Amino acid sequence: MFKFRNLYSLSVSSQKKTKRWYMEHINDFYVKESKRLQLRSRAAFKLMQINEKYAIYKPNQYVLDLGAAPGSWSQVVSEKGKVMAIDLLEVSPIQNVKFIQGDIMDKQIMNQIRQHKFDVVLSDMAPNVSGEHEADHQGITALNQTALLLSTFTLKTNGNLVMKTFVGSEEKLNYDFFRLFFKEFYREKPLSSKQESSELFYVGKGFSSDLIREILENTEKLYKYPEQIQNRLKNLVIDYKMFE
Ligand SMILES: C[S@@+](CC[C@H](N)C(=O)[O-])C[C@H]1O[C@@H](n2cnc3c(N)ncnc32)[C@H](O)[C@@H]1O
Repeated sequence: MFKFRNLYSLSVSSQKKTKRWYMEHINDFYVKESKRLQLRSRAAFKLMQINEKYAIYKPNQYVLDLGAAPGSWSQVVSEKGKVMAIDLLEVSPIQNVKFIQGDIMDKQIMNQIRQHKFDVVLSDMAPNVSGEHEADHQGITALNQTALLLSTFTLKTNGNLVMKTFVGSEEKLNYDFFRLFFKEFYREKPLSSKQESSELFYVGKGFSSDLIREILENTEKLYKYPEQIQNRLKNLVIDYKMFE
């Protein structure tokens, strides 16, 4: 919980910004609703609104929740099925949720996750936001690519993905690359995602990792794609082979 006494260590302009953020936060409709419904964060509404539109998860499915802390997405999904949740930060226990604390870029953590098959992969992961749009965009692009790599091992054929990203110089390339692995692929900005925020969500339905296998069997397949996509595919195949 934010404490006003922290303001004394900030500059006057930072104090004003922090105080404005705090006042907006406590007056926010979704913050009030999350408190009323005992959800751990307003982020829960983003997933609920995406699910309402795209029917991402169904009852009794097994869901991987990447970047789960404080746990509101896991709370929402665990009402219907089982969840494996990962975060750098601790998540206090939730029924039907197995939590692993660690970095998804860590090979040991990846290997732990790789033992499982999921119907749905969710990623609300974000780097510590610096305020530098392009740096934050690059940071989340790296997390997005790791979430896709993990999906190639763990997401069932025809499974679904929801992944947070930020707009930035490579967003179109990211979109064109990630969509290759899904029958349907969308950009979505749910109502509860603040308009001033650069976040948006990729929604993928009908996953297939066939493309990676095809490239492994015949690298010629790469050459039908534009150069930047070829490079992304080459890197993904290199990472994929490291785990074989
Ligand atoms: C926006 S929060 C997630 C909120 C969560 N979906 C919820 O509903 O409560 C983003 C989370 O991503 C986590 N994260 C960022 N990088 C990560 C990484 N490399 N491995 C695991 N978690 C990461 C952060 O620790 C942070 O808790």
